[in-house]
Amino acid sequence: MKDFKPENYKWWQKEIVYQIYPRSYRDKDGDGIGDLPGIIEKLDYIKDLGIKVVWISPIYPSPMADFGYDVSDYTAIHPMFGTMQDFDKLLDEIHKRDMRLILDFVPNHSSNEHKWFQESRSSKDNPKRDWYIWKDPAPDGGPPNNWGSVFGGSAWEYDENTEQYYYHAFLKEQPDLNWRNPEVQEAMFNVLRFWLEKGVDGFRVDVMWHLIKDAQFRDNPPNPDYTEDKSPYDKHLQAFTTDQPEVHDIVEKMRSVIDEYDARLLIGEIYLPVEQLVEYYGKDNRGAHLPFNFQLVLLPWDAREIEAAINKYEGALPPGGWPNWVLGNHDNSRIATRVGAKQARVAAMLLLTLRGTPTIYYGDEIGMEDVPIAPDQVQDPQEKNIPGKGLNRDPERTPMQWDSSENAGFTNGKPWLPLMKNYKELNVEKEWNSEESMLTFYRKLIVLRQKEPALQIGKYRPVLTEGNLLAYIRSSEEKEIFIILNLGNSGEIMDTDIPFSEAVILASTHSLREGEKLKSTIKLQSNEGLIAEIEK
Ligand code: NOJ
Ligand code: MG
Repeated sequence: MKDFKPENYKWWQKEIVYQIYPRSYRDKDGDGIGDLPGIIEKLDYIKDLGIKVVWISPIYPSPMADFGYDVSDYTAIHPMFGTMQDFDKLLDEIHKRDMRLILDFVPNHSSNEHKWFQESRSSKDNPKRDWYIWKDPAPDGGPPNNWGSVFGGSAWEYDENTEQYYYHAFLKEQPDLNWRNPEVQEAMFNVLRFWLEKGVDGFRVDVMWHLIKDAQFRDNPPNPDYTEDKSPYDKHLQAFTTDQPEVHDIVEKMRSVIDEYDARLLIGEIYLPVEQLVEYYGKDNRGAHLPFNFQLVLLPWDAREIEAAINKYEGALPPGGWPNWVLGNHDNSRIATRVGAKQARVAAMLLLTLRGTPTIYYGDEIGMEDVPIAPDQVQDPQEKNIPGKGLNRDPERTPMQWDSSENAGFTNGKPWLPLMKNYKELNVEKEWNSEESMLTFYRKLIVLRQKEPALQIGKYRPVLTEGNLLAYIRSSEEKEIFIILNLGNSGEIMDTDIPFSEAVILASTHSLREGEKLKSTIKLQSNEGLIAEIEK
C-alpha cells in the first residue's frame, strides 16, 4: 500500500482536467468561432484557477459535419482554429506554465473527406479498400444487417460506385475505420506518435468502446426497455457493435504507443456500465489510465443512487486502477441545468472531493447553464437527424462568458451559437472578485483539494446516511476529512453514527459556516455541503 505522499503519485492522478470546447472558448480573429490564439489568451485564467491539465476537443481539419469529430487530416490544424505555428505556441505556452495538454484523438471514424476514405471508396481493389468496413448488400438489396447509427437511421450507407455499403456508427460523413486491419492500426499509431513527438501530454480517445465490431456482423437484438421517447438507436442493444472482446487488444496497443514516451496519459471515452467500464484499465493496468467515469452525468441526482454508484465503482476498480469523475461535457446537459444553480455547488463539492481525477467542463466553474436554442439556430447534427427528443447538444456548447461586454467578450463577430441571456451577471470578470460567486467557490475547492493530500490522493470510505444526505471520509496518514452533502431542496439533520466527536468546517457551500465546529448533530440547509477536518 502506497502512502499518501503526493510525490509518489503521477501528475494525472493529482491534477484536475479542464475540457475546452474550442469553438466556444475565445474567438480571437472575430469569425464567431473560438480558436487557438483565443485559448492562448486565456491560459493564465486557467492557471489561476488552479488547473494544470487542459483537454481540447478536436482542432484538426474537418468539414465539421460533427463539429470536428469528423477528421479529414489527423496531423494538421483546421485553419479556422489557427495554424500549426499557433498550435506549437499553444503547447509551448502551456508547458511554460507547468501545465499539460491533452488532445482529442478520434480513431473510430474519419471524415468521408479524408483521403484514406476517398481512396477506399474509389474501387473494390484499392489498397485502402479494407481500411474501412465495406459489405455487400443483403439479398434484398438493403443494408447488410440491422445495425443502427447513433445519429439515427441505418449505420450502413450504400455507395453506388462500388455497389457496397460502408459502416458508420455516427453520421454517414463519419465512416468507421477498420481497426482489424494492421495497416490502419499502424497509421493511427503514427498519428499518436506525431503529436507525442511534439510534446503533447496525452489523449482523450473518442468512443473507445466502439473500435471493434463483431467479425460475423450478426444482427443486434431488440432492447426490451426501449420506449418511443428514446433515440431510435436505443431500439437495439449494441451487443455486436460495441465493447467487443478484441477491443482490449487495441487499447493495450494504443497504451504501448503512449508508453514509448515519458509520462503521457491515455483517457478513454467509454459509456458502459461499471463492470464493463473497468475492463478498460486493461490486464495489469495496461489499458487506459483513465477510462472516463460518467456516472455523475448519467445518474438521477439522488443521494442513494449516487452513494451506491460511488461504492460500486470503488469496489469494482482493479488493483492499481485510478478512479476518475466527470460532471459535464459537450455531449450532455450542463450540471447547473440538470440540478439547478444552488445544487450545482453541492455537485462541484462532490466532484472535487471524491477520490480520483476530476474533469471540469469549461463554463461549469462559473455556473453556465444550457442555453435554449431556437429551431432555426440548431447546429448539432444529432438534433437535426433525431429532432424533438431532447438530444440537442448545442445548449451545452455555447460561448464562454468572459465579461459583461457585447457577446460576453467571446467574440467581436457573430457567435456561432447564442449566448446565455444573463451573461452580464454570470461571467468570469464579475465572478472573479465576488465573494459569493460560483467561480470563487470553485477556486476555494480547488485550492483545498490541491493542498490536502487527504482530498487529492487520500483514501475514501463511505459514511452511510439517509434521505438526501451523502457523506464520506477522505483520509491520509495525517488527516481525516469529512464531507457531507445535502442533495435535496429541504433541510436535513444527521444525528446518528457520526464517526467523530468534533470536526471543523473547512469549506461550505454557504460560506458563513467556515470555521464552525460540527458536533453530534449536524444540521444542513437545503443544497448545503460541508467539508470538515476531523479533530484527532
Ligand atoms: C463522442 C463525442 O464526444 C461526440 O461529440 C461525437 O459526436 C461522437 N463521439 C462521434 O465522434
Ligand atoms: Mg475564430
